[in-house]
Amino acid sequence: MVSRRKFATGLIAAPFLARAQSAPLRARVKIDTERVIGDIDPMIYGNFAEHLGRCIDGGIFEEGSRLSDASGYRKDVLEAAKNLHVSQLRWPGGNFSSNYHWRDGIGPRDQRPPRLEMAWGTVESNRFGTHEFLDYCKLMGTEPYICTNMGTGSWTEAQEWVEYVNSPLDTAVTRERKRNGRAEPWRVKYWGLGNEMDGGWQMGHKDVVEYSKFALEAAKLMKWTDPDIKLIAAGSSNYGAGADWIGWNRTTLDFLKNHADYLALHLYVGNTQNDYGDFVACAMELHDRIKTAEGVIDAALSGVRNRKIYIAWDEWNVWYRARGNSQRGRKILEEHYNLEDALVVATFLNTFVNHAHILKMANMAQLVNVIAPIFTNETGLYLQTIYYPLQMFAANTKGKALELFVDTPRYSSRRFADVPYLDISASHDNGSLVINVVNRHRDQAIETEFETQDKQFSGAVEATEVNGPDLKSENDFGKMTVTPVAKRAAAQGNRLRYSFPPHSYTMLKARLA
Ligand code: AHR
Repeated sequence: MVSRRKFATGLIAAPFLARAQSAPLRARVKIDTERVIGDIDPMIYGNFAEHLGRCIDGGIFEEGSRLSDASGYRKDVLEAAKNLHVSQLRWPGGNFSSNYHWRDGIGPRDQRPPRLEMAWGTVESNRFGTHEFLDYCKLMGTEPYICTNMGTGSWTEAQEWVEYVNSPLDTAVTRERKRNGRAEPWRVKYWGLGNEMDGGWQMGHKDVVEYSKFALEAAKLMKWTDPDIKLIAAGSSNYGAGADWIGWNRTTLDFLKNHADYLALHLYVGNTQNDYGDFVACAMELHDRIKTAEGVIDAALSGVRNRKIYIAWDEWNVWYRARGNSQRGRKILEEHYNLEDALVVATFLNTFVNHAHILKMANMAQLVNVIAPIFTNETGLYLQTIYYPLQMFAANTKGKALELFVDTPRYSSRRFADVPYLDISASHDNGSLVINVVNRHRDQAIETEFETQDKQFSGAVEATEVNGPDLKSENDFGKMTVTPVAKRAAAQGNRLRYSFPPHSYTMLKARLA
């Protein structure tokens, strides 16, 4: 993992004073392909589609639009979603899932009941349900991840959903599936045991013991229906003063340690103070939470043999402008992202890779329009700044996550001390080395020397940079300001020198022999 405390060379007390300095900023990175953090699970490049605002209705799915196919899927959105290389897609929520009764969303579309949707203050038509979601995942080339209703739902409802979707047996429930046009089971692997159940905002919110007992009984029935499924327990989404984040997670795992495969955690961040240096450092908080959660998992599993529980960071993103009580109804949570948001997204992805041994799933929230990398109107779409880091990581950063020696200048911000200006992760996969670097510095390039310890660079190096004229640069319909740009890079022997421009995310791809 990137060491952020050990090498405090060049510590700059106040951020971005370096404009006055004359000497260029420099960094050193050592790479040894035998120093492995863990296998990078492709499931860390997941996304999320909730029945919320225009994510599904008006995003993924727009019946009657000239941009949609005969099933109602927006073809342009599907193309952009495929190109994002998302490995798995969580559905149907989010808060929505806590009052979602899946039987409302099966059978002939015109006969499905419209229901009051209380999480986000709309009416749910139910025209996009289980079949539509699973067909969409097939088209998109992604794995489905279904979150069950542990709020107003029942154990039987969760169990029968697994039976309907996964069982090869001939039962009343699977006959219903067949009558609805699907003979073979889909065999969905990932199932969530509710969403943010510790939050008072959740429909059917429970205290930790109520939730844990309820989820345990559901988990038993779900795994007895299909022993091959993987279950994701709802961890705490309350962190900070007054919240018992650790206690909720520990109790949940004490109940579910023999049944859950993942602990779900969430984090949204925002530049609420318009303090770039502090905002762009916020993945340090993610790092701290992952470490704490890992400790809680280790404690819960002490004495338990042959069981692993991993972290599923199944909601994360920048979300602060379109937030608050007014966010109810149709056009909600529609964040417009800028360059600094894209840099934060890249540092989150670096942090996931740098904890590859324990963090095995993650979901950027969400896919379209709602805090999302893809933004539509009735006539088209554009790709937001945050689209590119996720796309570049998902398509390229694979195999083993490498533990690096990083010697970089640092700074301190309002909330974080000793923040490395360069935030880095690296992967190695059959001779292919991928290095992801965010230069957090607002004004200065950082000249960096990479030195491989056990192999030599071989052949050309590809460099791709995401940057923009200023930190607040945004994309829009017909105006793509922040996009990946190819740059020149070269390596010789075991050294690669590269100058990372201010406020940039760069991916370097090289071969090692
Ligand atoms: O992603 C938006 C919302 O954020 C989700 O519905 C909920 O789980 C979280 O609070």
